[in-house]
Amino acid sequence: MRFLIVFALFALLKQAGAAIYAGTDPPVCDACAGSCGVENGCLCAGGNKLCMPTTCLMDDNTCCSAVPGYYWDPSASKCTDEFRCNPACAGDEKCVNKSMEAVCECKNDTYISNTIADFKPTVECDGGTMTTSVSRCLLQHLGYDYNSLYLRNESTECIFHYKEIVNDQSLEMIQVKTEVGWCENNATIIGSQVYYANTLHINAIHSALITKNPIAFDFTCGFNLTMQTSLQYALNPVVSTFVLVPVTGGGSFPVTMAAYKDDAFVTLWADGEDVYVGTDIFLGIFTPDADATNFTLRVEKCTATPSNNSNDADSVVLVNEGIAVDGDVDTAVMDNLSSLEARIRISAFQFPNFPQLFIFCNVRLCSKTEACGQASSQSGRSLDENSAQLGLGFTLADNTTYSNSGSHTAFSYVMMAASLLAFLCMSFF
Ligand SMILES: *[C@@H]1O[C@H](CO)[C@@H](O)[C@H](O)[C@H]1NC(C)=O
Ligand SMILES: *[C@@H]1O[C@H](CO)[C@@H](O)[C@H](O)[C@H]1NC(C)=O
Ligand SMILES: *[C@@H]1O[C@H](CO)[C@@H](O)[C@H](O)[C@H]1NC(C)=O
Ligand SMILES: *[C@@H]1O[C@H](CO)[C@@H](O)[C@H](O)[C@H]1NC(C)=O
Ligand SMILES: *[C@@H]1O[C@H](CO)[C@@H](O)[C@H](O)[C@H]1NC(C)=O
Ligand SMILES: *[C@@H]1O[C@H](CO)[C@@H](O)[C@H](O)[C@H]1NC(C)=O
Ligand SMILES: *[C@@H]1O[C@H](CO)[C@@H](O)[C@H](O)[C@H]1NC(C)=O
Ligand SMILES: *[C@@H]1O[C@H](CO)[C@@H](O)[C@H](O)[C@H]1NC(C)=O
Ligand SMILES: *[C@@H]1O[C@H](CO)[C@@H](O)[C@H](O)[C@H]1NC(C)=O
Repeated sequence: MRFLIVFALFALLKQAGAAIYAGTDPPVCDACAGSCGVENGCLCAGGNKLCMPTTCLMDDNTCCSAVPGYYWDPSASKCTDEFRCNPACAGDEKCVNKSMEAVCECKNDTYISNTIADFKPTVECDGGTMTTSVSRCLLQHLGYDYNSLYLRNESTECIFHYKEIVNDQSLEMIQVKTEVGWCENNATIIGSQVYYANTLHINAIHSALITKNPIAFDFTCGFNLTMQTSLQYALNPVVSTFVLVPVTGGGSFPVTMAAYKDDAFVTLWADGEDVYVGTDIFLGIFTPDADATNFTLRVEKCTATPSNNSNDADSVVLVNEGIAVDGDVDTAVMDNLSSLEARIRISAFQFPNFPQLFIFCNVRLCSKTEACGQASSQSGRSLDENSAQLGLGFTLADNTTYSNSGSHTAFSYVMMAASLLAFLCMSFF
């Protein structure tokens, strides 16, 4: 029965004759080999004359807006006079004729029994963004204007929002970059997680009387801290960065080496902070901007020296050709996988009579398509465009003797606990 009705409707429509646009002014775009991809209507190829396209990348009625009363028909791939909303409306909307334009409007009855208690924005957190979404039609029913969404700051980038249909419901979305200060985001660090927060504001629909307050909804996303993100929140970290410009092309890539206190690579050593002999120093080396499908980061060599000179005669080799050297210094290469990150653990030690310890690492960005310059790394070898030497300096807490390492260890535990506490209490604006 239902089939028959549908069939009858279809026949009627055909009879009514949904006409494909066949005019010559404006021309059909095929005739002038144009295609559609602009905001308002379509332009002919090689000109600024409007046309009626036979392809519409946006899949949107605006492709046919050169002639009022024509609508994009995706199945026919033509502009026709058959009235339709395109993109289609959500289940809580209906397609209405607003002076020849087909627009989706909220149905008046869908949320009739809902109250402000039902207003629950959703928040999605993925690496780089937090996306919060609200139901357009519920908001409208509650007397709020879904076109008035904004964040803590009202500058252009902080009021940008867009419509999306999810589960046949019409939603308004707003995206927030997970960066401290972006649209006045704030960030709080708790343990090994960073929580970003912002506030979604929504104004009431304008009316003669003000009967409700604007909505202010706080939302938060928590992310694991990484080698890289931890660095953003560290005060005065021990860090060194060098920009590589690979000869194989692909742009320029900053390579960073930083010193961490923990094997999660979350808490950083601060510049000038006392390092006790025997304490672990975790070296994290990363180059986040390089393309991981084409490049890997290779640690060719790490040396420790008593002075800020990698060629110091007293230097001790810790890592050679990516492998920890089995020597007096407890060193471990924690991963040697083909990635854009390297992790090395070194137990702090002292050159007798020198108050500082310097660590230098030679790193190379290797293109996966060609064999990486085989490490013929003699010291003093000039570094090419694909490799860099990064150096870090540490202040040793005790330069008198190696002995009695038990007490040093005890000391370092107290220090670690204290700095961990400080870290836990730290928060940023
Ligand atoms: C849409 O409305 C206009 C008047 O605003 C009318 O002329 C036109 O025929 C209507 N179109 C359809 C498809 O109902
Ligand atoms: C909803 O109601 C308003 C006024 O009550 C009316 O103007 C509007 O066209 C209705 N919308 C729909 C989609 O029915
Ligand atoms: C809002 O953001 C703009 C652009 O980023 C900035 O210039 C302005 O100072 C911010 N406003 C406040 C109150 O922070
Ligand atoms: C960040 O904003 C949230 C929500 O407004 C608030 O609860 C939190 O205390 C703020 N954190 C900081 C460090 O200001
Ligand atoms: C965050 O860290 C926890 C514990 O270290 C881990 O189980 C989880 O998979 C991590 N989440 C992501 C998204 O990496
Ligand atoms: C890898 O690099 C080549 C050029 O060296 C480039 O054409 C290709 O698109 C890159 N692959 C990816 C996944 O970016
Ligand atoms: C990676 O490390 C393992 C030990 O952890 C070692 O056996 C292996 O040879 C290393 N591979 C390379 C390419 O250095
Ligand atoms: C230990 O270091 C201090 C400076 O931090 C220096 O004045 C002192 O001479 C050093 N002691 C020895 C035994 O080298
Ligand atoms: C080591 O020397 C380099 C350049 O000569 C300098 O930029 C760096 O700050 C020095 N490091 C320390 C810890 O003194």
